[in-house]
Amino acid sequence: MKTVLSGIRSTGHLHLGNYFGALRNFIELQHKARCFFFIADLHSLTTHPKPEDNRSNIKIILSEYLASGLDPDISVLFIQSSVPEVSELFVLLNMLAYKGELERTASFKDKIRKNPGNINAGLLTYPVLMASDILIHRAHWVPVGKDQEQHLEIARVLARRFNNMYGVSVFPEPQAYNFGEDLVKIPGLDGTGKMGKSEGNGIYLIDDEKTIRKKVMRAVTDSGPVKPNSPMGPEIANLFTLLSVVSEPDVVTHFKEQYNSCTIRYGDLKKQLAADICKHTLPIKAKIEEIYNNEPYLKQVMEQGAEKARTSARQTLELVREAMGVKLF
Ligand code: TRP
Repeated sequence: MKTVLSGIRSTGHLHLGNYFGALRNFIELQHKARCFFFIADLHSLTTHPKPEDNRSNIKIILSEYLASGLDPDISVLFIQSSVPEVSELFVLLNMLAYKGELERTASFKDKIRKNPGNINAGLLTYPVLMASDILIHRAHWVPVGKDQEQHLEIARVLARRFNNMYGVSVFPEPQAYNFGEDLVKIPGLDGTGKMGKSEGNGIYLIDDEKTIRKKVMRAVTDSGPVKPNSPMGPEIANLFTLLSVVSEPDVVTHFKEQYNSCTIRYGDLKKQLAADICKHTLPIKAKIEEIYNNEPYLKQVMEQGAEKARTSARQTLELVREAMGVKLF
């Protein structure tokens, strides 16, 4: 069975893009592969050093993951920092990572440009820590966005380098997991592209009904079709994409027909869209709140996840230490 590993930095809430994109695929993937899902709280420290931010963000993401349907009894759901074996592998892999190749990473250059006041070594070695996350479970597949592909390439380089240097085959080379046709790209509400955390164009799973309605009603539109069957501008096409994800097919057909006959009123479309988004997200929101307030449950999930992750990690570390000769007895 293949091993899949996915990490998320503990900054920000999950939005519709996460939910209808990767998350819904993960829910199914849980039954087809050995899945590891974790919260990269150590990575967050490279840019977000405040302890209170970290603590509450971990709880939020964990609650949101659980409420969305990740099952801690099927998958391994854990917090990065609760698996110290990751940090140990990180130290060992640092000996194989060259300063030059880390300095050339696009995300490093981007981050030092944005945080000139805090160019810490953690930023430079970010890809080595990420490689440790992946290699410690000897993962085959890693679902990553475009911005993380270079990091995954470094994980492959380090896996290969380790295997060659020590004449072993401890690490498989992790490949990008491609959802292919299954991945719906959820557009943002400003008509410019993908729904994202930082763009402020998103609807979050924890948004209440009023907020959702307000955000949808404010979504960018155009002045309306003037000729029958005229092509759709990107803003309107985006609204239809969202509608096709959350609404019944006949609702989509109804508004498409109205668009094609130039009788559409965007206000009506938006009202329907907001109502249908709420149908999906409000039950999840309620679950998030219930889980978030259930500290004993969260604690139990975290302990159970850490234990499973550590069992897997220990086995790899054993082989690594053996290969590197850092274990005498
Ligand atoms: N760097 C990833 C991001 O910012 C998060 C991450 C950390 C990750 N470790 C990982 C993702 C390992 C996949 C595998 O999105």
